[in-house]
Amino acid sequence: MHRSETKAVIEPALPAAIERAADHLRAGDLVALPTETVYGLGADATNAHAVARIFEAKGRPRFNPLIAHVSGLDEAREIAHLSGLARAVTEAFWPGPLTIVAPKREDAPIADLVTAGLDTVALRAPSHTVAQALLRTTGRPIAAPSANVSGRVSPTTALHVAEGLGDKVAMILDGGPCAIGLESTIVGVFERSLTILRPGAITAEMLEKAVGPVIEPAQPGLKPTAPGQLTRHYAPATPVILNATRAGPEDAVLAFGPDPISGGSTMRNLSADGSLIEAAANLFRFLRELDASGARRIAVMPIPQERVGVAINDRLTRAAATAPDPGPSVQDTPDEEPRVRP
Ligand code: TXA
Ligand code: MG
Repeated sequence: MHRSETKAVIEPALPAAIERAADHLRAGDLVALPTETVYGLGADATNAHAVARIFEAKGRPRFNPLIAHVSGLDEAREIAHLSGLARAVTEAFWPGPLTIVAPKREDAPIADLVTAGLDTVALRAPSHTVAQALLRTTGRPIAAPSANVSGRVSPTTALHVAEGLGDKVAMILDGGPCAIGLESTIVGVFERSLTILRPGAITAEMLEKAVGPVIEPAQPGLKPTAPGQLTRHYAPATPVILNATRAGPEDAVLAFGPDPISGGSTMRNLSADGSLIEAAANLFRFLRELDASGARRIAVMPIPQERVGVAINDRLTRAAATAPDPGPSVQDTPDEEPRVRP
């Protein structure tokens, strides 16, 4: 074990270190782990708070959906509906540098934040022996984006991780340099066709040879803000207004902080303590619940535009922008708050 210039402890991935890393993950802490592609910034995918910490640590300005790493097909089946094609492609390339996007099961044991509220989920069984050992020891799926600060290049050594995120993780498991060094190929598997969403080491030719025709990608590099090509991005059907400072009886309130606004028909508080991490963890679930409450509008209290609050506001702004017009009766209400966007 040695400390780099940064705070994080880089530990050779010996069995005892893997055990401790699994303990950290089960406790909700972040662990950087080696995979054959790039190092991942891992969190327990079943724990919304832990997943929220990923976005906080990376300084991601928005909630991109994450890849849930699994030990193999059995675990994948608990999370997604896998068609015959999905099973064939995973049997051909798992464990390995291939991520599949498939319809998420209703009862999938993963936090909404992993999929950013989408009804599809990205799954990958990595082949790196340390990643496999950690997955099996943890006994839970691990959500992990590349372990770099947002906007920087993906890390392929433990030291790269320490340089960028050293003070943000409980531990960095050192499994040596990544063999592939390029993020996994991502394929959408829907109905009877495969679509490459992000090119990687598993090429279109390899996929075609193994399982048949591949629809060429719309463009190289997956646009994370528009995964709507193959699936619908979750947005509430109920109109959303932001920066609300009061609520009417037909409003559902999405509150934040110790002083929730009163007067709404129903209320969820993203974090009574004013914790942005907790708010991020609750965001997609509460939006769904308020959307289903029958309220006429969802009135969202101001969220601080700092740290993970930037991602929360990004998502809320898009939810507000795509909402249908609430109609004249609400617009004309004297108490109406102006639609202010951060
Ligand atoms: O090799 C890799 O894939 C690495 C290692 C750590 O496994 N991980 C990685 O994760 O590159 P990340 O978060 O940097 O990239 C994941 C990509 C994002 O572009 C995201 O938009 C996409 O996967 N993605 C995740 N879930 C999706 C979904 N349901 N639909 C479409 N795209 C999705
Ligand atoms: Mg990345």
